[in-house]
Amino acid sequence: MCGIVGFTGTKKAAPVLLNGLEKLEYRGYDSSGIAVRDGENNPVVIKAKGKLEALVEKTNGGETVVGSCGIGHTRWATHGEPSETNAHPHVTADMNVVGVHNGIIENFQELKDKLIRKGYDFYSDTDTEVAIKTIDYYYKKYKVGPIDALAKTMVRVRGSYALAVMFKDYPGQIFVARKESPMIIGVEDDSAYIASDVPAIMNYTRNIYYIDNLEMACVKPGEVVFYNLDGDVVPKEKKVAEWNVEAAEKGGYEHFMMKEIHEQPRVVADTIRRGLGGTVDSITDEGMGITDEDLKKASLLYVVACGSAYHVGMAAQYVLEDIANISTRVELASEFRYRKLPLDKNAIMVVISQSGETADTLAALRKAKEAGIRTLAIVNVEGSSIAREADSVFLTQAGPEIAVATTKAYTAQLIAMYMLAIKAGVARGVISGEEGARYVEEIKSIPTKIEKTIDDKERLQWFASKFSNITDAFFIGRGLDYAVCMEGSLKMKEISYVHTEAYAAGELKHGTISLIEENTLVIGVLTQAELIEKTISNMKEVKSRGAYLVGVTSYGNYVVEDSTDFTIYVPAIDEHFVASLAVVPLQLLGYYFAVARGLDVDKPRNLAKSVTVE
Ligand code: G6P
Repeated sequence: MCGIVGFTGTKKAAPVLLNGLEKLEYRGYDSSGIAVRDGENNPVVIKAKGKLEALVEKTNGGETVVGSCGIGHTRWATHGEPSETNAHPHVTADMNVVGVHNGIIENFQELKDKLIRKGYDFYSDTDTEVAIKTIDYYYKKYKVGPIDALAKTMVRVRGSYALAVMFKDYPGQIFVARKESPMIIGVEDDSAYIASDVPAIMNYTRNIYYIDNLEMACVKPGEVVFYNLDGDVVPKEKKVAEWNVEAAEKGGYEHFMMKEIHEQPRVVADTIRRGLGGTVDSITDEGMGITDEDLKKASLLYVVACGSAYHVGMAAQYVLEDIANISTRVELASEFRYRKLPLDKNAIMVVISQSGETADTLAALRKAKEAGIRTLAIVNVEGSSIAREADSVFLTQAGPEIAVATTKAYTAQLIAMYMLAIKAGVARGVISGEEGARYVEEIKSIPTKIEKTIDDKERLQWFASKFSNITDAFFIGRGLDYAVCMEGSLKMKEISYVHTEAYAAGELKHGTISLIEENTLVIGVLTQAELIEKTISNMKEVKSRGAYLVGVTSYGNYVVEDSTDFTIYVPAIDEHFVASLAVVPLQLLGYYFAVARGLDVDKPRNLAKSVTVE
C-alpha cells in the first residue's frame, strides 16, 4: 500500500513527484507529502491530509517548490490516523535525514523506546518516523555514511519496507532500501526516478532497474548503484518496461474503472495469444509457463490468492476439476500461510495476483516453495516479487490497472486459468487434443462476446439509478455461478458501499433468508443449465418474502425471464467459460451504483490496490 516516488536530475522535482503520485494514488490516498531540496539547502517538506489534490493545490502543481531532488509519498494509513502530522515525509529535528516509507515496521515500539532513551523526540504516531530516526541514529553513531546507516537499520528492523531517504550531507542523492515492499528505479539521461510501481514514471522513462530484497541503492542524476547488506556493490541489469503510457491514462473515460472494463476484450485476446505461444490452437509449455509433463504428474492443485484473484481461483476450480479432472483446492492466501496442514509435495501451487506484491500471496508462495512444491504464478506485473520468486510465470496481459476495483486483471487471470485447465486436460489425457483445440476456439470468442455484453450497459445504468439508494443486496448462484456471485458482490460493495453478500443459493435457507424484506435486491446468476431450475426455486423462495429479483443468464435460458423482475443476458458460450461474460454486467452494476451514489469510483474509501501488508 502507500506509494513512493523520487526524482533527482536537472529539472524541477516537485511537478515530477506530483505527477508520479497521481499515478500511484490507487495505492493509498488518505494523505500525501513531498520533500524537495534545492542544492545543499535543507529540504522543504510539504504535506496535506486527504486526496492528492490538496497537496497539488498547496504547491500550485509543484511550481512553487524550488529544487531538483526530492521524494514524495501517498499514504494508506497503518500506524496512526490519516493526518498531516502522520503524513510522510518524516524528518529528524535537525533535518539531517528525511524519508518516506511503504510497509510496516513491526518492532517500531521497541526501537522508539530505545531512541527516546537516546534523546530523540517523536511528533507522529507512525512507524516511519521511527525508521527515519533509527537511520539518523546509526548515521551519527558510526559515521560511515548513508549506505552503512541504512544497512544497520535494515538489520535492526523487523517488517517490510521500501524506503527512500535523503541525507543532509548528500545533496542531489536519494538512498533507497527494500525488503518485501515494491520499489523500482528508472534512469534516463541526466535524471533518475524512484517509484513503487511502473506507471508512476512511465511518462519519463522505460529503463527500469529492480531492487531486490534486502538491497539498497544510491540514486544520483543519471545513475544508480546497488548495494547488498554488506555494503558490496551489486551489478544489475536494466530492463525495458513494455507497458505504454496511454494504457495508464483515462483515455476519454470518466473513470479508470470504466476504461478498464472496456479494455477487457483486448486483454483477453492478448492473454490468449500469450498462452498459445505462437500456435493457433494449442497451449504451449512456454506460453503457459508450465510443461505437460509437470501437469501430468501433479497430484493436486493448490490455488492461492487474495481478493478478486481468489474469486478467479474459485471459478477456475470448477473448470479445472471438470476439464482436467484434477483435484483443486482454492485457498485464501492470508489463511493458507498460517495454517498447519499436510502439504502434498507432488502438487502444483498456482498463485494468482495482479500486482505480484500482495504480502499474503507472496508468503503463501514461499511456504509452498519451502515445502518443495512446484509453483506457477499467474501475475500481471513483470518483475514483481511474486513473478520473480515463483518457479514459473504466466504473465497476464492486462497492462497497468489503475482503478482499485479490479476488472480487466480479474478477466485476464480467468483466461489464464482456463488455459491451464485446457492444457492440463489434454496433458492428463482427460480430453483429446481436438477437444482442447475446440475449447481454445471457444475462449477465442470471449472478446467479441464481452463487447456485446458491454453494449447493453445503458440498461444497467438505468437500473442502477433506480435502485442506487438500497442498503443491502444479495448475490446467489450455484456452482460456477456462485463464484461469479462472489466477485459481483465484492465489486458492488467495495465501490458503492452497499452492503452485499454472495451466497451459494442452496445455503440461503440456512440463515440469510431471514434478512429478506419487501424489495430487498437479490441478484441471481443462472448460467449453468443443470442448476438453473434449482436456483430459480431459491429465487422464488425469496420472491415470496418480498425480494426484487434480477437474473443474470445466457441467451437461450428464457425460463429465467419468467421468474425474475429484471433479466440481464450475456451471449451464449460453453458453460465452463461463462464467468468471463457473466461478471461483466456485475462489474457495470457496481460501477453505476457507485456513480449514482456520487462516490469516487476509482478510489473507494479505506481500500488500496496493492496490499503489501498482512
Ligand atoms: C486488493 C485489490 C483487489 C485484488 C486484491 C489482491 O484488495 O483491491 O482488486 O484482487 O488486492 O491483489 P493482487 O494484486 O494479489 O491480485
